[in-house]
Amino acid sequence: MSNHFRLCARRILLGVTGGIAAYKAAELARLLVRAGAEVQVVMTEAAGAFIGELTFQAITGRPVRQALFDPTHEAAMGHIELARWAELILVVPASADFLARLHAGLADDLLSTLCLASEAPLAVAPAMNQNMWRHPATTANVEALCARGVRVWGPAEGEQACGDQGPGRLLEPAELLARVGELFGRGRLGGRKAVVTAGPTREPLDPVRFLGNRSSGKMGYAVAEALLREGAEVILVSGPVSLAAPPGVRLVPVETALAMREAVLEAVAGADLFVACAAVADYRPREVADHKIKKTEETLQVGLVKNPDILREVAALPDRPFCVGFAAETEALAGQAEAKRQAKGIDMIAANQVGEGEGFEVDDNALLVLWEGGRLELPRQPKTRLAERLVSVIAERMDAQATIEDPR
Ligand code: C5P
Repeated sequence: MSNHFRLCARRILLGVTGGIAAYKAAELARLLVRAGAEVQVVMTEAAGAFIGELTFQAITGRPVRQALFDPTHEAAMGHIELARWAELILVVPASADFLARLHAGLADDLLSTLCLASEAPLAVAPAMNQNMWRHPATTANVEALCARGVRVWGPAEGEQACGDQGPGRLLEPAELLARVGELFGRGRLGGRKAVVTAGPTREPLDPVRFLGNRSSGKMGYAVAEALLREGAEVILVSGPVSLAAPPGVRLVPVETALAMREAVLEAVAGADLFVACAAVADYRPREVADHKIKKTEETLQVGLVKNPDILREVAALPDRPFCVGFAAETEALAGQAEAKRQAKGIDMIAANQVGEGEGFEVDDNALLVLWEGGRLELPRQPKTRLAERLVSVIAERMDAQATIEDPR
């Protein structure tokens, strides 16, 4: 699989410390961004002597972070939030001084603080004069860091900026990119094809009016992105929403339930997973007026007919994918959701309470996930994180099902 799929939407915190090789970090940032990653650069003060913030800002599209207590940035994304945001902290180049401070667990600048505060994997690419690299103090620091699980990439041997020969050269940016790709691996759904529906449908009454609903599409789009990050190939069949499709996802825009059904039935051929997040209209107007309906009458009757249940139909296909549905309920959540799971013949249902500011058009949500013989409560959290957790349960259940079907 190409790095594009491995690194798509991955959140990488790129730490840059002071050293001649700092300019190569700019090339690495460019490669990471080109591979689809989101890159946030954090520079130490010493790095600023070797390379300018604006270079990184132009490459990554994000302002560089440097100060530990910067009121502007702390208000937007505080340092602890930044530590949580990162899926990988990569320090390129890592100076001898930085390795020593990392070993000691210092937290006297932003980068060292983030390294302490984050649970994300940490990789460092040392670059320094060969004598500094060979010094017993550096050797001891590096050994201790390795023992702690820090990945130490390089250094390479060769001619140094100072004219010396020996170990201490920064690994080339392309090599570092390859290591980042390896670290993220194929993902738990690598090689799997997933189809996701999202957003509302619009059921036309006449050429200018439709019956619709308040679905924002946020949950479906977050699920699509989370699946992509786990390595799946993702087709997103989406009703009209104001969100941009995550880069790397194949978007099939539709308006009506009938169009969604058609697009889904075509897309699920050969798919391993179907996640129905769309708020499909249950009914559509029986007739669509050819011209704009005039307000001549005091009352207007609109006849409605039932839309096909796309999820139920996919679940009934002979060689069907693993099917996940959503259930928005206002009461008796677990009971209603389990009944719906069985009625639709699907593998898993994610239920959420709606009404009173919950569910639709909001960024947070909570889910109760039910499958045959199991359940998991995912507490209220941002839909993006919720989607990651849900995708992780889906991957687990798909694996479990594959083991039952093929017990070898
Ligand atoms: O039956 P209900 O609309 O509550 O079921 C919700 C689940 O079924 C959601 O996963 C939704 O995307 C899916 N659904 C569908 N086609 C419909 C109605 C619902 O795929 N016509």
